[in-house]
Amino acid sequence: MRVRKAVIPAAGLGTRFLPATKSMPKEMLPIVDTPAIHFVVKEAIEAGIDDIIIITGRGKRAVEDYFDESPELEMHLEKKGKKEQLEMVREISQMADIHYIRQKEPKGLPDAILRAEKHVGDEPFAVLLGDDIIKSSPPCIKQLIDVFEKYNSTVIAAQKVPLVEISKYGSIKGKLVEDRVYLVEDIVEKPKPEEAPSNVASVGRYIFTPAIFDCIRATPVGLNDELQIADSLTILRGKEDIYAFEFIGKRYDIGDKFGYIEAIIDFSLENKEIGDKVRDYLSKSIKC
Ligand code: G1P
Repeated sequence: MRVRKAVIPAAGLGTRFLPATKSMPKEMLPIVDTPAIHFVVKEAIEAGIDDIIIITGRGKRAVEDYFDESPELEMHLEKKGKKEQLEMVREISQMADIHYIRQKEPKGLPDAILRAEKHVGDEPFAVLLGDDIIKSSPPCIKQLIDVFEKYNSTVIAAQKVPLVEISKYGSIKGKLVEDRVYLVEDIVEKPKPEEAPSNVASVGRYIFTPAIFDCIRATPVGLNDELQIADSLTILRGKEDIYAFEFIGKRYDIGDKFGYIEAIIDFSLENKEIGDKVRDYLSKSIKC
């Protein structure tokens, strides 16, 4: 069955980016001039997904406004003859069919995913976490869809990380079944490096079968008093095979201050308008 729907959890409080996130959603933090969530929605669309469900919470109106029409702004740009900007603004509101579901309390990623159950129904679906921006061609989620279409079972994105960093991720133990594809044998949420099954980290892209919903319901409260996706995946593994795919591409962990700065530097270096100036500035300021 084709993957037609994507769930983007965006209900988190963004405490790692306080004070900026005190009054603005972390998903709206700009990478140069474009909010982070724009890249995530674009990735899903480029993978052929046209039905997107964003899980929001209190204080996330800016996300909905961003993907909505902006009549006043459009009128202003039209009057001023700013055609290019007008087109860009209009394109954003026509990007995809986006639906919003609110998560009343932040109870963890699995609970956010469960909110989408009624909309997703009985079909496989993608989940894209906004903290990971992945530059790749084909889009990372499309790479996962291709693996899903081969194995017809849940597929999660994976990346090797330095062992000291594995405590930020789900750690995967797997058996390599083909180039870059592991059959998952164990997954542990944020283990200490010395207890981790491996340095293969689960990162923020997933293709789930609808069987995940029952597994989430059966998931006990875990680490940090929240439901944890690795625990739901462990339950799912008792029912179907789970594959992990080491995707090809560059990932920016923009949920982390340093990862956010890396993204800003790389994206600004590639920016037609300011790329050369940034390169020049960086080389001068590093010499100082
Ligand atoms: C979540 C998941 C974790 C995964 C990570 C990827 O953690 O719970 O298994 O490895 O995303 O980014 P979070 O970063 O939301 O704490």
